[in-house]
This record gives sequence, structure tokens and C-alpha cells, in this order.
Amino acid sequence: RIAGPCSLVIFGVTGDLARKKLMPAVYDLANRGLLPPSFALVGFARRDWDDEDFATIVHDAVRQHARTGFREEVWERLAEGFRFVQGSFDDDEAFARLKSTLADLDNTRGTDGNHAFYLSIPPKAFPTVCEQLQRSGLAEERDDHWRRVVIEKPFGHDLRSAKDLNGIVNAVFPESSVFRIDHYLGKETVQNILALRFANQLFDPLWSSHYVDHVQITMAEDIGLGGRAGYYDGIGAARDVIQNHLLQLMALVAMEEPISFEPKQLQAEKIKVLSATRNILPIEENTARGQYGPGWQGSEKVPGLKDEEGFAADSITETYAAIALEVDSRRWAGVPFYLRTGKRLGRRVTEIALVFKRAPHLPFDTTMTEELSQNALVIRVQPDEGITLRFGSKVPASSMEVRDVNMDFSYGTAFTEASPEAYERLILDVLLGEPSLFPVNDEVELAWEILDPVLENWAESGKPDTYEAGTWGPKSADDMMARTGRAWRRP
Ligand code: BG6
Repeated sequence: RIAGPCSLVIFGVTGDLARKKLMPAVYDLANRGLLPPSFALVGFARRDWDDEDFATIVHDAVRQHARTGFREEVWERLAEGFRFVQGSFDDDEAFARLKSTLADLDNTRGTDGNHAFYLSIPPKAFPTVCEQLQRSGLAEERDDHWRRVVIEKPFGHDLRSAKDLNGIVNAVFPESSVFRIDHYLGKETVQNILALRFANQLFDPLWSSHYVDHVQITMAEDIGLGGRAGYYDGIGAARDVIQNHLLQLMALVAMEEPISFEPKQLQAEKIKVLSATRNILPIEENTARGQYGPGWQGSEKVPGLKDEEGFAADSITETYAAIALEVDSRRWAGVPFYLRTGKRLGRRVTEIALVFKRAPHLPFDTTMTEELSQNALVIRVQPDEGITLRFGSKVPASSMEVRDVNMDFSYGTAFTEASPEAYERLILDVLLGEPSLFPVNDEVELAWEILDPVLENWAESGKPDTYEAGTWGPKSADDMMARTGRAWRRP
């Protein structure tokens, strides 16, 4: 579907996210023919730029980060709708200028009074910007035009601050006009979880405690935190990605079939499963956290967190976090869900693995078999997107030697269509007013309810463990699994 006439206003347009993700995504959408001729992009920031400077910045960002090839005619048409409004968030006059810029675009470019406001800014600035939008009349929705607000995580620091934040945003925009970005939900491989589960007959019978031993959700990154101290210090791995991306993945894996794919029905099922999710107790034995020390990543020697610019020598910010959850439901009783994430780990990989119970009986001479792994269904979220099924198979020419093999589905070979970048899909959905891929208020708060006790426990127990960069995390994480007779996968 092609978006209708509208303007997209980006607050915080000088930031990294705008440059690396938002501007290129807007161009890619235009290049794929998904934006109307009457589309405008408005940047708002303190920087002393004019429209031309802004266009140059967008141009550089697009040339560097866009997915699709550069086409002069697409660029020209798009760039005619670029405007820049200079000002600070507490400056009433700047918002008056924004208002007249948008009104002018409505008349000259035909944006029709439809405006999306993207807050790519630190959450502490949300209240001011929301208030200004309200005061200037820019937030006002009418029958003949829409107004939407897009917010980026972190959605608060804990349950209480998330509620405050939601209160502030909802005082200005009704919940139906609020789009919270969790960019993992924009990934094709993540959207495919529901297709895999509910478009097929094959998997559902296996998808429960009858056959699943446990689930492992891993989001491993090889990058460190150089340059990100301002955002990350004091936040840490659990708040940064478990609260949002990993709990959303878990909800999609664990939820029941929705009545339909209508946003309300999807949300209802996610909310139900998040409401039934608990930490496995005691928390200190069923969680682990760590901070990377110096080490090697491939052939590159990399510094530890405390040597990265902006992190104090006594920083207790965790760069690795693992938690164990269970879902109180008939389907999942007794099946642990292990969620882990970390920076500077062995390699970049995000995957969801359903690890199955062992066969109850092996009707042949098991001394002949290698130690077989448990069967596993692995959703490879990224990179190398696809799905792997691991099972035992007879080694050719042996009498009955059995060994693990993989059956693979790979996006690259199965489809010729390229996957759009997550931000492309999400920005388009904002402009279309399609809310399915955006977590609602209740999901955000439930996620904090799950995480808060862990964070409190960690705050009381002092420092995270240290792990060497380039490894798979602290020993405490391995111990946590070993206590249950399990082990983390080495993707
Ligand atoms: C962001 C986190 O939400 O996701 C970052 O704040 C992380 O810390 C990033 O690096 C990873 O995103 P992706 O899409 O590269 O897996």
C-alpha cells in the first residue's frame, strides 16, 4: 500500500538514528514508490541549518546508508518536500515556525494537514515536545486530518517511570495515535514467526511443553559501546534490549493463536502471554549479568568497557544479561524461556531456538551413536536469515551410527524479493496508520513488571561479573544453565 499525503517531522534530526536509519528509510520508501508525490520531510533541531543544509545532510545519509540504489529523479522529487525548522524544544516561536511551515506544505505540496511527529530524542525531552505540540495546536486531530506521534525507546527506566511517560504522551495524543518503535517487530524474520506458527499444520502440535524442553532467545552483538556511553551507561543490556526486543520475541513465540491478525486481536494475545510470564526464582540463581573486559574479536584487540570513552572506572552498567522466565499456562507449564543478550560476544547473531525433549527411548545400540544433541527448531532472525531444523540422521555406510544434521530454509535462496529494512516498514506503517507492529502501552508496562524485580535484585547485589571480549559471556551465565542440566547454544 502507498501512503497518503502527509508530512513527517523528525525531532532530533541531527542524531545518529535519523542519519543512519530514518533518512535512508524515507528515501528507500520513495524509491520503492511507496510515498506519494505529496510527501514532505521536516527536520527540527537546534543546529543552525537552512533547508539546503538539511537536504545536503539527508543526501549524504542516503548515499551512505540507503538500501536501494540512488536515482536522481526520485531524489529530486523527494527533496523538493524537505524543510528545516531551527529551534530548541522550549522555544514557542520555533513551534510557531514549525506550524506555519507545515501549513505552507499543506498548501504548496498538498500534505493535507496529516502530520506524523517522530521523537528521535532523549525521553527526558518528551514532556516538553509533547506540551509544545499541544500548545501550538499541532497535536489536534480532526475528522479531515490525522496527527500521530512516534516514540523511540527507552520507554521509561522501570515500571513507574514508564507509567509517567505514558501518562505524559497520552495526555496529548490518544493511544491510537501513539506509535512506539520496537524495530525488531519491523524485521521480516520476526514477522515470519506468526506465519510459521499459524500458517502451517506441522509445527503447532510440537509447540508446547509436551515436546519442547526449553526455549533460548539470543541476541548477541560483536560491537562494543565506544561512542554510546551517553545513552547506555546506567541503562545496561537488560533495559536496552530485553525489556523490549527480547520480550517481544518471546511473546510472539509463546502467544496463542489470535482470532485474526487485526491489531487489537494480536495485542490481546501478546498481553495475555506477558501477563502470565514470571521470573524463575530465586532470581540470583536464574539470571546472570556481565561487563566486557578487554579481549580479542577475531584478530582485533578490543578494549574493555571501562576503557571506552565516557564509562567510569567504577561503572556497574551490564553489557551482558541473561534471564530465565516461565509462562503460567497449560501450553508452557514447566518450560523455561532463557533470554540473553550481550555486547562484544563471539559474533553477531539473533536467534530463537526451541530445544526439544530427548527421545524417550533409542531402539538401537547407542554406543554406536555420537552423543546426539536435542532436536531443535532455530529461527535465525539475523544475519543469515532463515530457519534450521536439527535432528539425528544415520551416517551413510555405518550400521546405525546417528549424527546431528541440519535442514535449512534460507531467505536468500528461497526468495528473490529483498527484505526491506525494519525502519522502512515501520515508518510506512506509521504513515498508513497501521498499528500491528507497534507495542501498546500495556505491553510496555507488562514488560517492565517482568524486568523490575530482576533489576532490583541486581541493584542490591553490586557489580556485574567480567567476561573477556570475544567470548560468550560471563561464567555465571553458563553456571545458571548448568544448574538445570542445560547449556547455552553456541550459534
Ligand atoms: C537497539 C539497541 O535497540 O538495537 C542497540 O539500543 C543495539 O544497543 C541495536 O545495538 C541492535 O539492532 P539490530 O537491528 O542491529 O540487531
